[in-house]
Amino acid sequence: MKITIRRYHAERTPQTVEQTWEIEEGVTLLEALTAIKSGKDPSLTFRSGCRSGVCGSCAVRVNGKEVLACAYKPKEGDVVEPLRYAKVLKDLVVDQKPAFETLTRAKAWLADPKADQPVSPEEEKRTETQTDCILCHSCYSACPVLETNPAFLGPFALTRVWRYTADPREGFAKSKMEAIQQDGVWDCTLCGECTAVCPQGIDPKNDIMLLRARSGQAGYQDPHMADFGSFGLDF
Ligand code: SF4
Ligand code: SF4
Ligand code: FES
Repeated sequence: MKITIRRYHAERTPQTVEQTWEIEEGVTLLEALTAIKSGKDPSLTFRSGCRSGVCGSCAVRVNGKEVLACAYKPKEGDVVEPLRYAKVLKDLVVDQKPAFETLTRAKAWLADPKADQPVSPEEEKRTETQTDCILCHSCYSACPVLETNPAFLGPFALTRVWRYTADPREGFAKSKMEAIQQDGVWDCTLCGECTAVCPQGIDPKNDIMLLRARSGQAGYQDPHMADFGSFGLDF
C-alpha cells in the first residue's frame, strides 16, 4: 500500500515536495511514519509522544482531514500533510506557539481567586476543573474562519473558556466574557468542523453557542448584527 507525504524544508528548492512511500497494511499512520524514518529516510520529521491518543502531539491532516497519527490506519493513496494555520518547521512538524497563545488571549484558565491570573497546574488539577482536551490542535486546523481571520481565538480556546466560566468557583467570569467578544464567539460560523474532528468527543461548536447565550445575558451583542442596524427601514 502507498501513501504520499507532503514534506517541507525551508532550505530546499522547492521547499515543499511530495514523496510516495510503500507502507505495511494494517499499521497506524504513526507506525508507518516510524518505519519510514528508521528504514528508509531518517530525515523524515514528525511529532509523537504517547502513541496512544493521550498527548495530542501527533495530529496531522490526511486527505484534508485532521487525525491523530497514532490512532489512524492509512488507506491506499492517502495524502499526509501538516496541520493548517501554523508555520511548518519541517515536514509534518508545525510551530504550535501561536495556537497556544489563543489560550492566554481568551483567558482560558481557572483564575486564582485573588487575581485574574491562572492558578498553578497543581491547583487546577486539585480543583478537578481539567478538560478532556489534549490540545492536539486538530479543531484549530479544521476551522475555516482562521483562513480569513487569523486573529480568531478558535475552537479549543473558546471551549475551554466555556468550561471555566461555567465553573461556579470562577470569580473572574466577567473578565473572561470580555476577552472573548473581539475575534471570539461572534466570529464562529457554527459550521461544526471542529466538533467533527475532535478525537476526544469534545463539542466546541456547542460550547461556543452556550458562550454566545451567556454573552447575551451579560449584555453583549453580536457586533455583526449591530452593523445591519434597521436594514434601512424607517419605522
Ligand atoms: S464551529 Fe466555529 S469554531 Fe468550530 S470550526 Fe466552525 S467556525 Fe470554527
Ligand atoms: S478540543 Fe478536541 S480537537 Fe480541539 S485541541 Fe482539544 S482535543 Fe484536540
Ligand atoms: S502520540 Fe500522543 S496522541 Fe498520538
